Amino acid sequence: MKMYYYLPCLLGLSLSLAGAAAEPAVQEAPKNVNVRKGAVEPYIAKNYDHLLGKVQGLDDSLLKMHFKLYQGYVNNTNAILQRLQEITDNGQNKSAEFGALKRHLGWEFDGMLLHELYFENLGGKGQSLAKGPLADKIDNDFGSYDQWKADFIATGSMRGIGWVVAYIEPKSGRLLNEWINEHDLGHLAGGTPILVMDVFEHAYITQFALDKAKYIDVFFANINWDATSSRYQNQPTQLIPR
Ligand SMILES: [Fe+2]
Repeated sequence: MKMYYYLPCLLGLSLSLAGAAAEPAVQEAPKNVNVRKGAVEPYIAKNYDHLLGKVQGLDDSLLKMHFKLYQGYVNNTNAILQRLQEITDNGQNKSAEFGALKRHLGWEFDGMLLHELYFENLGGKGQSLAKGPLADKIDNDFGSYDQWKADFIATGSMRGIGWVVAYIEPKSGRLLNEWINEHDLGHLAGGTPILVMDVFEHAYITQFALDKAKYIDVFFANINWDATSSRYQNQPTQLIPR
């Protein structure tokens, strides 16, 4: 269980990278650095308390822990962006700290956004996917709902930690179930996420132990298909030319 990744989040600590010791002087700062005006607009953590007691089969204690974890990603995304702004304003954008934070930003940002997509496609109270554009798309691209679901579950059942994202890829508009390693590896550039499932251990292990299959069953019983269908119907319609 890789909880050590999240200890800073759970403990409310500031980002360790941002607080690292003074970085080595890699190169002298440029003299004509362009100092941007204005503060970085912070992201604000959304409140998902309306899901408490409404996700049948998921304990509120697990959800509350998960909400807190999500808030850590929001906080760390803001902390990185603020620190990057300070570093840039100080003309230190060739420093090791700048490089480290730039490399880390996507991990925290994707952790923030994927959790929002995940929580927002929960709360369906046992609703099924109704006939309509998304159901037609699934039938067209996978042959049937059951075949798409089997592929989604097989993807989520893989060993490892990360996410399953049903993506519309932007070249042909095809629906694909993607494995996202951790938060940031495996995304389809320009793709539109339609359905997102968290398969990090923190999403289920405190309630289901190693029975990830049971957790996935619970996830499917609680999909908010209205929200999911809306993502499909509101996706950008312009495809990238082949
Ligand atoms: Fe999570």
